[in-house]
Amino acid sequence: NKGKYEHYMQKEIHEQPESLTTSMRGRLLRGGSCKAKSVLLGGLKDHLKTIRRSRRIVFIGCGTSYNAALASRPILEELSGIPVTMEIASDLVDRQGPIYREDTTVFVSQSGETADTLLALEYALENGALCVGITNTVGSAIARNTHCGVHVNAGCEIGVASTKAYTSQIVVMVMLALAIGGDTLSSQGRRGAIIDGLFELPSKVKEVLKLDEEMKDLAKLLIAEQSLLVFGRGYNYATALEGALKVKEVALMHSEGMLAGEMKHGPLALVDETLPIVVIATRDSCFSKQQSVIQQLHARKGRLIVLCTKGDAASVSVSGSCRVIEVPQVEDCLQPVINIVPLQLLAYHLTVLRGYNVDQPRNLAKSVTTQ
Ligand code: UD1
Ligand code: BG6
Repeated sequence: NKGKYEHYMQKEIHEQPESLTTSMRGRLLRGGSCKAKSVLLGGLKDHLKTIRRSRRIVFIGCGTSYNAALASRPILEELSGIPVTMEIASDLVDRQGPIYREDTTVFVSQSGETADTLLALEYALENGALCVGITNTVGSAIARNTHCGVHVNAGCEIGVASTKAYTSQIVVMVMLALAIGGDTLSSQGRRGAIIDGLFELPSKVKEVLKLDEEMKDLAKLLIAEQSLLVFGRGYNYATALEGALKVKEVALMHSEGMLAGEMKHGPLALVDETLPIVVIATRDSCFSKQQSVIQQLHARKGRLIVLCTKGDAASVSVSGSCRVIEVPQVEDCLQPVINIVPLQLLAYHLTVLRGYNVDQPRNLAKSVTTQ
């Protein structure tokens, strides 16, 4: 039931304040005056000791689920101190990459039925690793076959392009990082700020959804383009990949997400006055580096669309020449949840304006159960 919406993707984008709330329900504890703020993930509590002792955490997934894991990697590394590596499920299986008994492998999948991810799970089980599932589907193959895990609880997602499951997966993996990371005195301030940020996140998402009309206008400008680049780094490298994936899969427009730190090692050759480029430059420890990326792209006459923190338009737009999208600021590790929303809206409007099927894009399936 699409309710007042025309498409499931549109409905699912707009219901993110509610889906995020459901994903966090009963899992965040703010404590009383003397009690510390904490996280309770029922599905993991008996396994946390083993996870904390593991030599490495390996995130494994495909498509949007892989991107959600990538967005959560920095905070998991920061709070746990354990090296976190990333694997695209099919590539791990193709390479028969090393997986050890001392590893914790984390399988991220909205459907819980993706064939590539399931094969990687089988492989990790054979190799004796602890297998943790992060899935949105209770009773799915991944939920059943992992040793333990966390249900994402974002609600059923129908649009083939994943939107609300993506933002809920990130929130669940930030909670996973809080659960694995030790509650040391020195980390209490940071942990408290993240937990407060999680509580405020649904209302901040509601705020960023007000960009709907503005993103429709931007889509009108981009409707006939051949290609769109998206540059991000740090927490928002994943946002660049996921934003480009949305544009590619539903609007059927060539789009690439790129690590801004790699710009000079190839992508810069593509820059001219015609190719539109989105640069994600919200406030975090990478902000000044992104400011310099904007200047360098501007010097090569790049057609820039900058996604920045509210109030920063003047400091990111070189002599007012960029189109700017301003978003509310949240704790750095939660910023990817905010930043993806305008890009989801852009992909949605581009698709409708170009006359393509939003909910069932050409050649794609919601759940890819064959290799
Ligand atoms: C669980 C209940 C929830 C209830 C809550 C009350 C279920 C599905 N969840 O939520 O309805 O309100 O207790 O305390 O009944 N698991 C895996 N692999 C996965 C995902 C989950 O093995 O990929 C396992 C978990 O380790 C756990 C179980 O499934 O044993 C349920 O996980 P989850 O729903 O996340 O647990 P709770 O949030 O505690
Ligand atoms: C398919 C879907 O390719 O599988 C994508 O079209 C999705 O939207 C990918 O990201 C992975 O799916 P899942 O269910 O494992 O998260």
